[in-house]
Amino acid sequence: MTSSVRSNSPTREEFSERLLRGSVKKYYEPVVDIDWDAPLDPDKFYLPPKLVSLYGTPLWDTMTREQQIELSRQELVNTLSAGIWFENILNQGILRKLMHEDPTSNATHYALTEMGDETRHMVMFGKAIERMGVKPIAPKRYQRMIINAVPLGFKGSVLWVAALIGEEIFDSLQRQMMDDPQLQPMVQRLMRIHVTEEARHIQFARDGVRKRIDDMPRLNRWWISTINGIGGPFFRYIFSNPVMYRRVGLDWRQARRTARRSPHRHEMQISGFAPLAAFLEEVGLMGPIARMMWRRSHFLPAKTPRVAVEAPTGPAPDEVYDGPANIKVSDEEHAVRVRLTGRLDPVDGKYHWRGTVFGALPEDVLRRPEALLTANGRTAAARLTERTPQGGYSVTGVGAPPFG
Ligand SMILES: [Fe+2]
Ligand SMILES: [Fe+2]
Repeated sequence: MTSSVRSNSPTREEFSERLLRGSVKKYYEPVVDIDWDAPLDPDKFYLPPKLVSLYGTPLWDTMTREQQIELSRQELVNTLSAGIWFENILNQGILRKLMHEDPTSNATHYALTEMGDETRHMVMFGKAIERMGVKPIAPKRYQRMIINAVPLGFKGSVLWVAALIGEEIFDSLQRQMMDDPQLQPMVQRLMRIHVTEEARHIQFARDGVRKRIDDMPRLNRWWISTINGIGGPFFRYIFSNPVMYRRVGLDWRQARRTARRSPHRHEMQISGFAPLAAFLEEVGLMGPIARMMWRRSHFLPAKTPRVAVEAPTGPAPDEVYDGPANIKVSDEEHAVRVRLTGRLDPVDGKYHWRGTVFGALPEDVLRRPEALLTANGRTAAARLTERTPQGGYSVTGVGAPPFG
């Protein structure tokens, strides 16, 4: 530990060492950690219904339960297939980067450990697809060539931002869905394994970005804060792949149009992207063009911030909320007291709020600082940033606040 006052700001080497220790303590071998022989329940979903792209639309209501389950199966296969080639290019990017790095450093060793995790995930996803008895969804030849060329551009912080885009959205959706009782137990297990190991990858990537951000040349910063917006249309394309709808026997054009316009779907996308959006805002890597691209593909809420539209009922500027709240961290709820305030930032047009959480939270809460904070009956994604010297936790968030 450094002698720095901010005990939660270890060096890259210390941080990597911590992750290495965590990897030794808790990791999975999916070949043996999932019961591949257990029968699949014909009446259970492969994704929770609310995360299937057509859920909440009139088209969904016309489908039989059997068709709905089949669509969930095809959508999971689509996601796992995309996951496999994403992890493939991430590993390619990391391996190329390591050619230039010190082979004795903890950061290199953790990067290699992460690659090992990803190779096991690819085996796990491949086995799951096979177990479900569905053909994987393969990109076309020209698409594979483009995908394979992408990691050549993964230099410096681009690699870590790309890793976050590929990992965080799936991660936050998986967290929301892995405990759904309507889900096939095999899928629940797979998600639990993936979420556990990805949590470390996300911390490593976020730390990588944070450590570089201050010294990043302006042009690089502009480039990264602009290019990340491609993630929006890219995920919209992947998540409404015609192949899934065709396999279920739906008119794929109608199905895709319906999914892309579904307000429920938009809400799911926005909640999946919220933690990463908050991080990109926090480190100053959400440029106006990127913000527009994420917004147009419905991963960010519509342009006018909700708090501004709801100004009469929303918190007034500088209003302080001091009272009880519930905070959910690592799937556990804790009753706490919070003192929060916020303001609408005229530069990015968003409501930024922050404050302190008073109460006992798990010892290692800052290692996985994403939280859901509920106060006054409203819930918002939050981030615990540090332990205060007085025994509380600093908390921040962007968007509609959990008070007011
Ligand atoms: Fe993974
Ligand atoms: Fe990962």
